[in-house]
Amino acid sequence: MPAGYSTVESALDTLLEVGRKARAFVSMPVVEGLTPRVLLDPARSSACTTSGDIPRRHGIFQLDEIGLPLLDHDALYGDACFEGILIKHGRVFLLREHLDRMWRSALELSIAIPYDRLSLTLHLLETIRQVAFEPKDNPYIRLVVSRGLGDLGINPKKCVGSTLFALVSTIRLYPREAYENGIPLGVARTIRRPGATVLDPRIKSNNYLNNVLALQEGCDGSSNVECVMLNQEGFVAEATVDNIFVVLKEEGWQKDPSRVRVLTPSPFYCLNGITRLTILRLARELGYTTEESPTLLPLDLVGQNREVFMTGTGAFVMPISSVAGHRVGNGKPGEITRALLSRITETMAEPGCGLDIHADSEMVRCYLGA
Ligand SMILES: Cc1ncc(COP(=O)(O)O)c(C=O)c1O
Repeated sequence: MPAGYSTVESALDTLLEVGRKARAFVSMPVVEGLTPRVLLDPARSSACTTSGDIPRRHGIFQLDEIGLPLLDHDALYGDACFEGILIKHGRVFLLREHLDRMWRSALELSIAIPYDRLSLTLHLLETIRQVAFEPKDNPYIRLVVSRGLGDLGINPKKCVGSTLFALVSTIRLYPREAYENGIPLGVARTIRRPGATVLDPRIKSNNYLNNVLALQEGCDGSSNVECVMLNQEGFVAEATVDNIFVVLKEEGWQKDPSRVRVLTPSPFYCLNGITRLTILRLARELGYTTEESPTLLPLDLVGQNREVFMTGTGAFVMPISSVAGHRVGNGKPGEITRALLSRITETMAEPGCGLDIHADSEMVRCYLGA
């Protein structure tokens, strides 16, 4: 297990650091007695125009100044969706793609986002600029829109308007050794990834209980920190917070990149990960053959001439050394995984791949095509 990943002490250290540094942009309707008082203070917040009937206020706060009201349906029922977004090289990485996915998730849940993309982005940038990041930090935005304050009971119709918050903080990524050596994955065999008729995996919702249960099962009795989730039919779906790829190297692959097959499960079984899409694009650019497969079995992930890696905003491109105790390839990060990791690292440094955190409204408009 990567050092420092599971202890309560390290979690506490992280929390203390987040508490010191992070800032949150928070926006919610005003309901006297429920909306945090700091949001009602004209010195700390401002009214914002809204299409709903109930006045709404927003502002930027430290984390010990504000919280989610206890009657928010995110806190009560996980009725919310979110995005996790990296800031790298002074740019919000793939912000446009994250906003698109956020809008799609919210639309599927029928949660109204109380801003247009331009004004939300301007609030995000203002919040980012208030955080004093240090060079060692991995700046990160957790953007959440929830059903908001409502009556006890799940009925969305009894909610008065969405809550939106953007936590601008840092994220602890895997340590460097993990990328150099790869990490082992467990497999959850009982708890399965539901399909779209239960909870469409393409909705990036705040309801992660299924994934938490899978993680507990798949990592039980080991020091693993991630595991494979299967769909109802037993095919590989994804990991609990990451997408999965397997690389099959067919004879002659060293000379002919099209003999490298880069496979990932069908998007019907997994989150439409933004890192996943970026890797599929980069793999095609490198001449590899890419496939979205609905029938990958856990056994397909192990053995010779294979590589496995997982992708995610937090994990980036993480090589996998074994699955359920069975070695992948020679147990070390393979050539293709390393090539893709280095291509995506280069991509992150390209100015076109994100929005400068100092962008003015004209630049934001231009970036968003608004
Ligand atoms: C279940 C799940 N799959 C995949 C991913 C990776 O998605 P992305 O690359 O957009 O971060 C995440 C990230 O949160 C996730 O929660």
